[in-house]
Amino acid sequence: MTIIDGKQISATLKESIREQVAGFPEKYGRVPHLVVVRVGEDPASVVYVRNKAKACEACGIENTTIVLPEETAEEALLQKVRELNADDTVDGILVQLPLPKHISEAKVIEAIAREKDVDGFHPGNVAGLWQKTPHMSPCTPAGIMKLLEATGVDPKGKRAVVIGRSNIVGLPVAKMLLDANATVTICHTRTVDMPSVTREADILVVAAGRAKMVTADMVKDGAVVIDVGMDRDPETGKLCGDVDFDAVAPKCSAITPVPGGVGPMTIACLMENTVQCFLEKMRVELNA
Ligand code: GUN
Repeated sequence: MTIIDGKQISATLKESIREQVAGFPEKYGRVPHLVVVRVGEDPASVVYVRNKAKACEACGIENTTIVLPEETAEEALLQKVRELNADDTVDGILVQLPLPKHISEAKVIEAIAREKDVDGFHPGNVAGLWQKTPHMSPCTPAGIMKLLEATGVDPKGKRAVVIGRSNIVGLPVAKMLLDANATVTICHTRTVDMPSVTREADILVVAAGRAKMVTADMVKDGAVVIDVGMDRDPETGKLCGDVDFDAVAPKCSAITPVPGGVGPMTIACLMENTVQCFLEKMRVELNA
């Protein structure tokens, strides 16, 4: 059984991004610039946004973090996004989710210029993924595909089961697995007899948002299990995933830990997307 070292795999990816970015000042006169906007003080978001800034520093990417108060009006946030869209020194824009209840996430996501959408959440980028036209890939699904690749797992011909159907993880990762020639099933809260479905999985991706919901009886011997969860164990209060790691790991051929699995890969892919936005901008400017 292999514990997939997302920290190590992401560190290698970030190092290669750092080397690439180091050549940019000479080639393009500057480095990429990512702006991350956080609204309010959601504790998980505070940590995520800090980690994104740290990753930028590690990669030599310029980073600006904008913190707005919880009570920021929707229109004020949309205005800030429009400002950043128009700012030529900004290559990537990320508004950390979730947003306070009074702000429409859909409106904010749509307001971010598609060419600066490092999250890959803009409707144009979502359409690009589903239609196989050029697009920005969402970071967590892209990170999962890289983890599988680095572990030597080729989804081709395998049965993949995804638990969860969110726009951020479940749906796009299912599409990516399908494009990698897996046969894909999506499970969710209304699935009847979920264990009978998950036991068929050669690759099981869990993005359910429920602590330790995947138990040993739900996993086939030799399966590869990818845990996207980031939960608190109700008994110990410790950080844990959607998979009961201690019970499930002995059955797997490979499994991601929480923390240290998918999380670091999301951020490494964000760095990659920021470079992609920057390079596309430079290409457009050079052709102008
Ligand atoms: N909240 C949790 N994950 C993400 C993510 O990938 N991007 C943004 N913007 N917010 C998130």
